Amino acid sequence: MRLLGLLLLIAATLCLQILAGGIGNRYYLEKEQFLIEILHHVHEPLLNDQWRLLGEQLVTDKDQYVVFNDRMTTFLEAFNVGKLLNQKAYYNPLYEDHYQQTLGLYNFFYNTRDWYTLWQNICWARLHMNPGLFVQALTQVLLKRDDYQPLIMPKIYELWPESFLDMRTVREARNLNFANWIRYGNMTDFEEVHRQEMEPIKVDGDLRNTPEWFKAMADVTIFRMKQKPRGNKLGYLLEDVDWLAYWYYLNTGINLVEDKTDQLQEWWYYQLDQILARYKLERYGQQMAYEKLRLIQDERNSQLISWQNLRFATEDTETTRSINEYLEVLESTVDEAIASHSLLLKNGTSIDLSVNSNWLIGLKELFPFEWTQLQMETAKQPQLLLDPRTSLRSENFYYYADRLLQIYHWYRGHFQPSTQRSFVPTNLKINDVEISPLITFDQPVDLDLSNLLHTRHFHLAGQFLWPFTLQQRQFRLQQKDFTYILKVSSNITKSTIFRIFLTTPEGKSLNRQPFYLLDSFLTMIYQGDNRIKRDSMDFKGFVGDHISLTELNQFVNLAQNEEFDFPLNISTANCGFPRRLILPRGGGGNPLKMRLFVVATNYDFKAQQGNELDCDFSKGISRWDELPLGYPFERFLEEDHRAEEVSGDHVLWKDVEIWHEDHLA
Ligand SMILES: *[C@@H]1O[C@H](CO)[C@@H](O)[C@H](O)[C@H]1NC(C)=O
Ligand SMILES: *[C@@H]1O[C@H](CO)[C@@H](O)[C@H](O)[C@H]1NC(C)=O
Ligand SMILES: *[C@@H]1O[C@H](CO)[C@@H](O)[C@H](O)[C@H]1NC(C)=O
Ligand SMILES: *[C@@H]1O[C@H](CO)[C@@H](O)[C@H](O)[C@H]1NC(C)=O
Repeated sequence: MRLLGLLLLIAATLCLQILAGGIGNRYYLEKEQFLIEILHHVHEPLLNDQWRLLGEQLVTDKDQYVVFNDRMTTFLEAFNVGKLLNQKAYYNPLYEDHYQQTLGLYNFFYNTRDWYTLWQNICWARLHMNPGLFVQALTQVLLKRDDYQPLIMPKIYELWPESFLDMRTVREARNLNFANWIRYGNMTDFEEVHRQEMEPIKVDGDLRNTPEWFKAMADVTIFRMKQKPRGNKLGYLLEDVDWLAYWYYLNTGINLVEDKTDQLQEWWYYQLDQILARYKLERYGQQMAYEKLRLIQDERNSQLISWQNLRFATEDTETTRSINEYLEVLESTVDEAIASHSLLLKNGTSIDLSVNSNWLIGLKELFPFEWTQLQMETAKQPQLLLDPRTSLRSENFYYYADRLLQIYHWYRGHFQPSTQRSFVPTNLKINDVEISPLITFDQPVDLDLSNLLHTRHFHLAGQFLWPFTLQQRQFRLQQKDFTYILKVSSNITKSTIFRIFLTTPEGKSLNRQPFYLLDSFLTMIYQGDNRIKRDSMDFKGFVGDHISLTELNQFVNLAQNEEFDFPLNISTANCGFPRRLILPRGGGGNPLKMRLFVVATNYDFKAQQGNELDCDFSKGISRWDELPLGYPFERFLEEDHRAEEVSGDHVLWKDVEIWHEDHLA
């Protein structure tokens, strides 16, 4: 308790220093500037002499830490005997040894008493640690220490564009020769943007295209690069940087939580369910098989590289073998547990799963969700499936996820007590839902590739400068904002929760259909007729767009020159799902036919507010009530549409259509 109190006190004082009325003050701006520069070209040697000097030694004086734990001692010993991961090696926290080292460095950051100690340790780690390990530990400490949460960390795909973009793009970007440009004034694959402009115009904070934006960007030459054609039919989703980064942040965020609660497990499975449902809806939209996925033996060769030009491979046979074996064991263990109603725990005790809440002990022990349980020997080599930055690119990811979720839902279907009837409203009828047109389109967006350019362009006479930026113009899936109106009649006044899912029009098996939760909310239903209007911008758990790394640097500079008040609310939450991806790509000639499923439940006054969107799990997970996350599809339902959860006055099925704009006119 004393420790916690102390941490809170430190947190409180630092927050006061950083936050002055939602505007970043001098201390904040200094820290942010430092972060940007220390992370700039993080895989190359640090050039700033002052920080090179500061980073010669790691702070080992125990008084400088709130606590000096075993993880730190072990880490220090490993460093002293030269056992830490080589700077040039491939880093993957799914590999046991790398994971342990990350925990060590993370503790050397997290437990620091003050900024000066942290500052020195950051410089030290930047000079001495593997860049992957360094970025991982630093990202997590900024997300998890309340006092540093306002600091903005560049997005992972801006730090390592290599691992998110095809090799040809990376090679061309690296070869961009600024001097030749000045001399000859032309380059085939690049264009200089003369009237400064970046897409999309609307980002969180509304800073683009403002007078301040033009001032901040005045001295920056913008180069634009074309997007290369995508190889995969679903590439517009599977190669979307925000889709990939979301899964990266979510998993790396959970990874370093020391006390993983049952809630966190439930939340992870719910998110996996959502990702899989969303993927399946896209397959359905593109007329590809989606009810049962297949293992792909010969995934196309990957065109991606990690740093040091290590090429990502697709999953090797050893990886496939060990994941299959893992799932087979899990499947048969669950089969046996269902047949015998008992489970032999790892500690040797056998429990009866039908007694009390023993099924929860079984759930916790059977179903893996975090990396201490998912360590892979083959994760030492870059493989798409096993790297948290690239796993969502691998189509087999969805195949494995599907199998895992089938077992999970099946287990829950057998042992989870049926939902209490008290949740089912008896005095309410959902009459209809009116929805505005659902329209998707391809939106231009500029992706900041500046970290691929040569370092020498950014350092002039010992000064860190940002003379030009390289942006790749991509086209990505986006939808127009939409609204819907629920029409509900009731004969009493009562607080009610609504959940709205998107699904396919009809399928043979309900349990094989993807149900993607679009919206859920709590509202008061009054006696008589009710019209409840919801706007897609207000759906919870989704996030918008943010400014690029170049703009961030320029705004910080402008603010340091006192020409701009730097707002502290312009970054997007890393563990939020990109709002623009909630609808599958619509149909062109014919609309894509889908269905909405709406369900109402009584409110039990047990709502909780967590901070999980920011990948901070210390306050638990947000939820409306005690119903399982994803209710009613968190488990297998009876195999027809008459199951109580999906029929009756308190639910509604509604056909909807999605159009893709290109073909509208
Ligand atoms: C670009 O400059 C080079 C060198 O001056 C010249 O050979 C080439 O034709 C130019 N290309 C275009 C597209 O103008
Ligand atoms: C940020 O804060 C300002 C001032 O409080 C407010 O006007 C603005 O709407 C906020 N922006 C976002 C994206 O929350
Ligand atoms: C094994 O674990 C279960 C569940 O946590 C616990 O109830 C039981 O007492 C443990 N048994 C032993 C022998 O530690
Ligand atoms: C309230 O409405 C429900 C469904 O419309 C109906 O079954 C029920 O009898 C009504 N109760 C009262 C008290 O009118």
